[in-house]
Amino acid sequence: MTAREGGQGFETLAIHAGQEPDPVTGAVVPPIYQVSTYAQDGVGGRRGGYEYSRTANPTRTALEECLAALEGGTRALAFASGMAAEDCLLRTICRPGDHVLIPHDAYGGTYRLFDKILKPWQVGYSAVPVSDPESVQKALEQRPVRAVWVETPTNPLLSIVDITAVARMCADVGALLVVDNTFASPYLQNPLALGADAVVHSTTKYLGGHSDVVGGAVVVAEPELGERLAFYQNATGGVAGPFDAWLTLRGIRTLAVRMDRHSNNALRVAHMLAAHPAVAGVFYPGLPGHPGHEIAAKQMRGFGGMVSFRARGGEEEAVAVCGRTRLFTLGESLGGVESLIEHPGRMTHASAAGSPLEVPGDLVRLSVGIESTDDLLEDLRSALR
Ligand SMILES: Cc1ncc(COP(=O)(O)O)c(C=O)c1O
Repeated sequence: MTAREGGQGFETLAIHAGQEPDPVTGAVVPPIYQVSTYAQDGVGGRRGGYEYSRTANPTRTALEECLAALEGGTRALAFASGMAAEDCLLRTICRPGDHVLIPHDAYGGTYRLFDKILKPWQVGYSAVPVSDPESVQKALEQRPVRAVWVETPTNPLLSIVDITAVARMCADVGALLVVDNTFASPYLQNPLALGADAVVHSTTKYLGGHSDVVGGAVVVAEPELGERLAFYQNATGGVAGPFDAWLTLRGIRTLAVRMDRHSNNALRVAHMLAAHPAVAGVFYPGLPGHPGHEIAAKQMRGFGGMVSFRARGGEEEAVAVCGRTRLFTLGESLGGVESLIEHPGRMTHASAAGSPLEVPGDLVRLSVGIESTDDLLEDLRSALR
């Protein structure tokens, strides 16, 4: 699974791709080009191709080149947020009358984008259990589909989609496969290598890794789709600013070591929860009993840092547990070095309430950080009482 470009491994690319020492000063870290416009050597004489920072900015270019290398794509584009990335991709590939299959447990914001923003513009969607390839196949047979949108692992139920199988089905009917790779990060999973056409990230999460920046990215396999996306990105303007691009790139350099540690800690947490009497069920693809375990083991390099569980005491107990941890901070988002806990039904996924994507009320989601494992286990045990 390791990304290799010119023989280089993932960890090397994370530190060097797009990040040559600055040609003027030798600075080993790409400078923050906090600038909107660029002097031209005569009309049209653009130095390095730069003319205006909505169109391109050198710090953003460094991030985009690094992301393209890590995902094994031909082009990456960095946005102001994951949602800006999703919106730009969907407006690039869909037209009124098109239909998209989305996961029946998609991230709430993705569902809201389809239901509240794209539907009124006549881009329809069906929510399908995408971790079941037969359901995807049936849905593809029912009507023409422009794109299939999957997350794997999903947020917040950690379901696993067989990317290779769904990519084959999409290719058969000429649909594009988009994979939201936020939960895995490019270190653990490279969907383009498995047949996907586009990868989406909320770089706010593991790529940035320190809960200090909001950002998004799209990485594509085909240069022609990359060109169209770049046109839409420039035309609609939801770009990552230079400082945000720089922070994200700084996070990426340690992605590999962080993901290893996240995965190790999460596995220990999942085992502890699975044996705890106050827990009715654990969702973690690293557990052998997880329905997607074998596929995850095949297509991922590790199982990641996200764990969800159901509180045996029901919704009120789930909410109470979220308020009792001390190290796990109660908050939305995920993927930072610090551990977070949240109640998806009332927080991140509240926008899916009353829809087919509603999540169970007794569900608690953990973003397991890279603190000392024993401290994390102790904190959860005392919160579960
Ligand atoms: C799986 C997934 N995709 C996309 C997004 C949206 O990203 P952002 O919050 O950076 O706009 C999120 C945010 O939580 C997410 O969890």
